[in-house]
Amino acid sequence: MTSKPTDQTIAGPKPASFKPGGPLTGRITVPGDKSISHRSLILSALAIGKSQISGLLEGEDVLATAAALRAMGAKIEKRDSSWTVNGVGVGGLMQPETAIDLGNSGTSVRLLMGLVASHDLSVTFTGDASLSKRPMGRVIDPLSSMGADFTARMSSDGKACLPLTLRGLCPAIPIEYRLPVASAQVKSAILLAGLNAPGVTRVIEPVPTRDHSETMLKGFGANLTVETDRDGNRIISLTGEAELSPQKIKVPGDPSSAAFPVVAALLVPGSDIVVENVGINPTRAGLFTVLQQMGGDISFKKKRIVGGEPVADIHVKHSKLTGIDVQADIAPSMIDEFPILFIAAALAEGTTTTSGLHELRVKESDRLSQMAEGLSLLGVDVTEKEDGLVITGSGGPIPGGKKKTAIKTALDHRIAMSFAVAGLMTKTGVAIDDMSPTETSFPGFADLLATLQGSAK
Ligand code: S3P
Repeated sequence: MTSKPTDQTIAGPKPASFKPGGPLTGRITVPGDKSISHRSLILSALAIGKSQISGLLEGEDVLATAAALRAMGAKIEKRDSSWTVNGVGVGGLMQPETAIDLGNSGTSVRLLMGLVASHDLSVTFTGDASLSKRPMGRVIDPLSSMGADFTARMSSDGKACLPLTLRGLCPAIPIEYRLPVASAQVKSAILLAGLNAPGVTRVIEPVPTRDHSETMLKGFGANLTVETDRDGNRIISLTGEAELSPQKIKVPGDPSSAAFPVVAALLVPGSDIVVENVGINPTRAGLFTVLQQMGGDISFKKKRIVGGEPVADIHVKHSKLTGIDVQADIAPSMIDEFPILFIAAALAEGTTTTSGLHELRVKESDRLSQMAEGLSLLGVDVTEKEDGLVITGSGGPIPGGKKKTAIKTALDHRIAMSFAVAGLMTKTGVAIDDMSPTETSFPGFADLLATLQGSAK
C-alpha cells in the first residue's frame, strides 16, 4: 500500500489553449516559494513545539512533503490562512506505515531521503512517471557514506531511480562532502542528515546554489557556519545532534513563479504590471538580471528583508528584448527559469545562446529537448546542443501552433507555463496537451494570466 499525497493522477490531463489578448496590467501576487515552503515544513517538523507558517505554497509538491512528514509523526494542519506544525524533535521521526509517494516532487524526495538517512527507519519512496526517471545516485552516494543503506530500481541506462527503499542509520556518520554537481537538493539532503549525526557535517560547494537551507537552519537555532575559501568554494559546517526551536515563518512569493507573468509582461505590447512580495535572493534571481541585460524594463520596489530573505515588489513594463550570450556561471541562480527564458529569446531580436545546462536534462522532463521540440513546432529557429539551446528570435510575434499539434508538457509544470506565455505572442495561438502539472507549483496559474489580460470571468 502507498500513501498518495493528492488525487493528481485521478483527475487526468487538462488540455488548454492560449492566444493573444490585450496587454497585461495590474498588481498581483504569486504563490509562496516552493523551496522555502518545503524547508519550512521539514524544519518545523524537526523542531520541538509548534511552528506557524504563513504564505506556504499549497501546491501538490509541498502538500506531498506535508503528507510524508505526517506519515512520520509530525502534526501538520491548516488553520485559517496559516499552517501549524507540531514537530517531533531532531531524531524523533517515526516509522511510516506505508510507502511514501512524492508525486512529481524531486525536492521532496531528495530532502526527505536526507532526513530519513540519519533516523533508525526503513522507508520506501515512490513517485510519478517523471520523478521515477530522475537520478537519485547524487543523493545515495553521500548518504551511503553517512551509513544509510539503499535498494533502488536501476534504469535501463544504469541509474539508481525510484522506487527505492532507504534504511537509515542512527547515529549516522558525519562526513565532509564536495558537491560534484551544483545542486541545492543534494546539499540540503546532506545537511538534513547531518542534523542527527554526532559531530560536524561539512558540505563544500564549488558553485553557489540557493541558500535557503542554510538561512533557515540558522533561523531554527542550528549551529551552522558558512565560509568562503581562497578558491571561492563555500564551506558549510553544521554541528549535529542539534536542537531546533519552533519558528513563525512568512514565506515570500516564488521568483520562479513570478518569472512567468514577468516575461509575459515584457513580451506583450502595452503591458505594465507589478508582482508584489517576491523573493529576490541573489541565488535565485539570475533570470531578472539576464532579462535586464536583454533590455527588459524591470525594477525592484520596496526592497525589504522578510524572515532572513530579501523580498521586493517587481515592476515590469513591455520592452523590446535583444538576444544575448547567457554566461554558464549564472545558470545555478536561474536553473528553473531556462524554459521561460527560451520563450523570451524566441521573441527577442537576434540570437540568444546558452551553455553549461546539462542539469536541465534531468529536471521534471528533459527541458532542453522538450523546449526545442515545442519551439520548433511553433516555427521558432532553434538548435539543440548537448548543453544548451541556440535560439534566433523573431523580434515580434512567432507563427504559433498548427491545428491539432498540441505542445507536450511531459508532466513538467514549467514547460506547460512557458508555452502558455508563448501563446500570448503567436499568430495562431498555442495548444497544450496538459496544464494539470501547473498544480505542483502554481495553482491558479491560468486564471492569474487571464486576470492580467483583463479577461477574467
Ligand atoms: C531546488 C533545487 C533545484 C531546483 C528545484 C528546487 C531546491 O534542484 O531545480 O526546483 O529547493 O533545493 P537541484 O538541486 O537539482 O539543482
